Amino acid sequence: MSGPNTDYDPVEVTPLKAEQVEAMREAALTAIAQAGSLDQLKQVRLDHAGDRSPLALANREIRALPPQARKEAGQRVGPARGAVSRALTERQAALEEEHEARILVEEAVDVTLPWDRLPVGARHPVTTLSERIADVFVAMGWEVAEGPVVEAEWLNFDALNLGPDHPARTMQDTFWMDPAENRVVLRTHTSPVQARTMLTRRPPIYVVCPGRVFRTDPYDATHSPVFHQVEGLVVDEGITMAHLKGTLDHFAASMFGDGITTRFRPSYFPFTEPSAEVDLICFVCRGVDSEECRTCRGEGWIEWGGCGVVNPRVLVACGVDPDRYTGFAFGMGIDRTLMFRHGVEDLRDVFEGDVRFTSAFGTEI
Ligand code: PHE
Repeated sequence: MSGPNTDYDPVEVTPLKAEQVEAMREAALTAIAQAGSLDQLKQVRLDHAGDRSPLALANREIRALPPQARKEAGQRVGPARGAVSRALTERQAALEEEHEARILVEEAVDVTLPWDRLPVGARHPVTTLSERIADVFVAMGWEVAEGPVVEAEWLNFDALNLGPDHPARTMQDTFWMDPAENRVVLRTHTSPVQARTMLTRRPPIYVVCPGRVFRTDPYDATHSPVFHQVEGLVVDEGITMAHLKGTLDHFAASMFGDGITTRFRPSYFPFTEPSAEVDLICFVCRGVDSEECRTCRGEGWIEWGGCGVVNPRVLVACGVDPDRYTGFAFGMGIDRTLMFRHGVEDLRDVFEGDVRFTSAFGTEI
């Protein structure tokens, strides 16, 4: 008969030895104390209180012990597990509190910080003014036409009655594109758009064309090799110079205010006949007591552009019947208009792209 196995000492089971259990407890408590974040604590919980943690495994061992040994072992493992569990709860609470406190500090938004330190761009005033000019004409039912800046010699000159040896051809100092035999230029005025328009549309034609033009001019306070013009062209039945004058007076008043009208001075352009230079009443002295005026230098008038009745030779070159239709055309400097309107004294400011200049015009659209 076999009696109880008195040789068997459950304390000898390795995981249940007092010092082993104590070591597991210490290891767990140290790891818990060292967990610096909620994530780390999660891992510590798995390692020291999870199903496969040393203390859980030791706890499972208890069941394998003879009943009389279970109690003692339970008294060692149970409190150890309890201590670990309490330490975990406390550390969890402490870390959560720390986490929330850190969020409050790290994610705080200082609503008093300046928000407008990033410089805002501004549209270039030439763009804004070009659109504004187009709007004046669109409001009268005109259309906006466009043409390329790299232009065929024929459209820039020949179609406009500036034949190969016409003396007026030298009025335009031209940039020629390589190779020269292609006869291609950077357009010297917006007038080739007149020819392009007549070649592609049937009258009645009412178009306005703002755009960039190029001449081999020096670069100084009043000249630039690149500048902007706005061309106007009307071709219809019964059009006279009176229509031209009325249109330009309206344009001038739209740009410079009521009372600023235009005057015509006889001039010459091969593509218009008769032709005129357009002057504006000086918008500074308004033509009154002009002697002292520095803007118009005592003239009372300021030169604005050129205009005239479309030369029948141009109508013919562009396939328009000159017996049925007449027309007028004009060309004004947009940069000049900008300088007049806004008191810009040096043309180079318009072209140098310094934001201190452009942003003064705001973000007007
Ligand atoms: N194209 C001319 C110039 O650049 C201006 C102009 C346009 C004159 C239309 C008459 C008619 O000087």
